[in-house]
Amino acid sequence: MIRQPIVSVLGHVDHGKTTLLDKIRGTSVARREAGAITQHIGATEVPIDAIYKICGKLINKKFKVPGLLFIDTPGHEAFTTLRARGGALADLAVLVIDINEGIMPQTVESINILKRYKTPFVIAANKIDLIYGWKNCKDEPFIFAIQKQKEEVQQSVDEKIYKIVEKLYELGFSADRYDRIADFTQNLAIIPMSAKLGIGIADLLLVLVGLAQRFLEENLKTEEGPGEGTVLEVKEERGLGKTIDVILYSGTMRKGDTIVVGSHDEPIITKIKAILKPKPLDEMRDPRDRFLSVDEVHAAAGIKIAAPNLENALAGSPVIVADDNLEEVVNRVRKETGIHIETQEEGVIIKADALGSLEALAYELKQEGLPIKMADIGDISKRDIVNAQTIGNPLYRVILGFNVKILPDAEKEASKIKIFTNNVVYKIIEDYKEWMDEKKR
Ligand code: GTP
Ligand code: MG
Repeated sequence: MIRQPIVSVLGHVDHGKTTLLDKIRGTSVARREAGAITQHIGATEVPIDAIYKICGKLINKKFKVPGLLFIDTPGHEAFTTLRARGGALADLAVLVIDINEGIMPQTVESINILKRYKTPFVIAANKIDLIYGWKNCKDEPFIFAIQKQKEEVQQSVDEKIYKIVEKLYELGFSADRYDRIADFTQNLAIIPMSAKLGIGIADLLLVLVGLAQRFLEENLKTEEGPGEGTVLEVKEERGLGKTIDVILYSGTMRKGDTIVVGSHDEPIITKIKAILKPKPLDEMRDPRDRFLSVDEVHAAAGIKIAAPNLENALAGSPVIVADDNLEEVVNRVRKETGIHIETQEEGVIIKADALGSLEALAYELKQEGLPIKMADIGDISKRDIVNAQTIGNPLYRVILGFNVKILPDAEKEASKIKIFTNNVVYKIIEDYKEWMDEKKR
């Protein structure tokens, strides 16, 4: 048996990630016929039967992959750095690029993350419907829709794709329109599409299952045994208290199981009180009555876990079932939640909103040969500024913040040192290096 691959969707702001996921979820979420798309907590499952149905004559063979589990974006960049066992949580990714705008800063950022985790990905070249002269073709596969376009429009599509191909080449990838690729191990597939009109959704799903089947089969073998997952979000729920939304990527979780969850300090040891799934819309009598309680769940799935003492649970950290190996599991969670960033006597201070994003920033600094004195999670505080003032080398007397704010009491002190914040790692580094060059002059 193999489980469904976990697929994440990333890309530059406004390029169409949410629209794509909404379209994939489509109208069939509410329908409960066999093969219908099901909603999970924090994820959407497209079973293989639904993929056959959506793809129609595009598919002429059977796949072993039982479907695809798309992670729904919680809406912050750190999501792209969610991990599982130190690697990427997602088995596959879809990088959305607005075909008219091309590669933008957060596209590059996404590519860097995918490279670092060695996550296979495809490119959804979105918004083809905005290309001048495009003729509707709602919900059709791209390869049929393109044939119905005028010669100039077809050319226009290819010119725009070529621009993306050129940029990707500079970034170290050989890419092409997916229907012109013979070897998917050597080439990055570009699927032109319109999330808004549903064009190319079939092609995208087909390429994803094809990739999963060919290159991931080994990684997707289901492991029987204790459940392992990653915390997507920590949420307060009426009547349930603090709960965690979890993507279960391996094994089984049962009601009553002892779990260990990563936190800001010591790992939390608790017992699962309830495992919750979303209720189908037509069974919901009251909008507050959104969950269905189940006794057990197998990977891969998105679930909500209710348990005591989850107040300090940390998004992005592991949640692992323990039985007689509690101590071992606690040690593992502690290790995976801890900050393992090499620091030096002399260096800069870095802050980020989550472990994954902190590591992403540290990694890029290391590539540049820039030393780090201190690395921590959280907004920039007064204490960070006081710390930065003690740095000897004036070139390192800075704080680099990724996806963080400057706290109000730190704001007053902020003029004493230099602070660089951004939600794009390489922009932080670029700005910092520019400042250093200026200072050296
Ligand atoms: P963030 O979450 O803010 O990063 O954006 P996003 O990538 O999720 O983009 P979103 O799906 O919210 O789309 C941004 C805008 O582009 C919305 O107004 C969408 O309606 C529009 N849009 C998305 N896909 C398409 C498309 O295929 N064609 C057209 N014409 N508009 C699109
Ligand atoms: Mg969005």
